[in-house]
Amino acid sequence: MTDSRISELRLDHVSRGFGGVTALDGLDLTIRGGEFVALLGPSGCGKSTALNCLAGLLPLSEGSITLDERRIDTVPPEQRGFGMVFQNYALFPHMSVRANIGFGLRMARVAKAEARRRVDEALALVQLEDHAGKFPAQLSGGQQQRVAIARAIVLEPALVLMDEPLSNLDAKLRLEMRTEIKRIHQTLGLTTVYVTHDQEEALSLADRLVLLRQGRVQQVGTPEEVYSEPANRFVAGFMGYRNELELPVTSVTDKTVVLGDLTGTRREDLGEVAVAAIRPEDFTVGDGPNAMEVDVEVVEYQGREQAIQARTAEGGPLHLRAPTRLAPGDRVTVSVPPERVLVFAAESPAAPSGEAA
Ligand SMILES: Nc1ncnc2c1ncn2[C@@H]1O[C@H](COP(=O)(O)OP(=O)(O)OP(=O)(O)O)[C@@H](O)[C@H]1O
Ligand SMILES: [Mg+2]
Repeated sequence: MTDSRISELRLDHVSRGFGGVTALDGLDLTIRGGEFVALLGPSGCGKSTALNCLAGLLPLSEGSITLDERRIDTVPPEQRGFGMVFQNYALFPHMSVRANIGFGLRMARVAKAEARRRVDEALALVQLEDHAGKFPAQLSGGQQQRVAIARAIVLEPALVLMDEPLSNLDAKLRLEMRTEIKRIHQTLGLTTVYVTHDQEEALSLADRLVLLRQGRVQQVGTPEEVYSEPANRFVAGFMGYRNELELPVTSVTDKTVVLGDLTGTRREDLGEVAVAAIRPEDFTVGDGPNAMEVDVEVVEYQGREQAIQARTAEGGPLHLRAPTRLAPGDRVTVSVPPERVLVFAAESPAAPSGEAA
């Protein structure tokens, strides 16, 4: 396939409202050519709205979108030349795999021989050569998904937009397809914007993550940045800082905060009560900094590790992970380094429960 690189896609204050609801509120983002950007956040935060604005399926209420110096936000979707993978695949049921993938090429009046060559290439890329003659109903979910991806990339688009493309797949297939999507992105030198509510998927795929809450950007950063230095309590909760201990502030010295027996790292200005956010995997079973005794209540087997729900002396629940064999009823000492205890103001918005991993 030919080189389909773009150099820069710029979103300036992109906003979209529905009646009185602001679904997307002033999104500023510059996407570099070849980049893989994930839009991440809980249900209703504006991810699909942002993607549909990029695709041209939704007009903007405010702001602009510029592709390589050219304003594109008023260009109709079919003229933007972007590839789109919808969550529900949206394959044509009465067309074979080959015809589905070749549809856009036929619409673009690409010569037959050339179209055939490009469909063959796309089929090979998604490893569906042996299924070219089948109809969508004769394919597994993962195979249908790959047809949708092939159909999106066969036109060699400047930009590929994917909206939760793996959400309907089982765990194994999801992992396989995740690798496949990354491989295709790299092989073709594509620029990809990928919507997901799955933090692990976003972390593993993206060069940069954009975290949204109620239509507003909370943080833009590399996987390492959002994972280890979440900008606020919401991002922390969403990125797996599952434990939130609400405690009175004893003292603050620059970045070091003491909350009773717990010492942590201050991430923002604090009032009298603060929230210490800690990831389960940052606890160590055994004595160390911030040592505390906990009672093990629930143990889940997870291969090399156990996921443990315990209770602190104060009665609060604590989630941790342990490589050793613990059992319900055990009393153990756990510890966590102060730099892995991130302290936020108690009044800061939290991630919705059930979303945090
Ligand atoms: N066509 C519409 N009419 C009215 N409100 C809408 C419309 N589409 C989206 N919204 C609202 O805009 C907000 C953002 O919706 P959006 O679909 O972008 O969320 P999302 O992040 O994609 O969520 P999900 O993870 O559930 O797909 C929500 O509050 C939603 O109710
Ligand atoms: Mg959505």
